[in-house]
Amino acid sequence: MAENVNRRDFLGMTLGAVAAVGVGASLVAMKSSWDPLPSVVSAGFTTVDLSSMQEGEYRQVEYRGTPVYVIKKTTAMQKCEQRDVIVGESSFSVGIQICTHLGCIPSYDSNSTEFHCACHGGRFDACGRQVFGPPPSPMVIPPFKIDGTKLVLGEEGPEYLKLIGKA
Ligand code: FES
Repeated sequence: MAENVNRRDFLGMTLGAVAAVGVGASLVAMKSSWDPLPSVVSAGFTTVDLSSMQEGEYRQVEYRGTPVYVIKKTTAMQKCEQRDVIVGESSFSVGIQICTHLGCIPSYDSNSTEFHCACHGGRFDACGRQVFGPPPSPMVIPPFKIDGTKLVLGEEGPEYLKLIGKA
């Protein structure tokens, strides 16, 4: 009798242990299938080191498959309080480089410090505001945060929230 009980206890404990391992493994597998792939997580953010930019320099970076411009303004360039990104003593203009008329990609002309859209002749100033032609609105400022001297596109930091009037 005692031998039967011990045997039953042993089988019960063994089955319980196997079931616990199975449940644990299932939960780990389910979590890894819910989590985004590392490549997707890293694709959500674009970091730009602003400390290496010269005054007047224009850069285009890719953010979530779209072009984003970054211009380090010279002291002679027009300030745009509603749109300038201030980092230390420097002002930067940042925006998604897509024309707000029909979605062409305007090119930046560093001589005139304007963006020119070849599709229908629209123009934007260095702040990204439409100044000529059919574009109905300024180029969109992507969500960003400032991390020291780095611009991190894809995160809504306090500087971004202030620019869009949510802080
Ligand atoms: S798409 Fe740029 S002006 Fe029409």
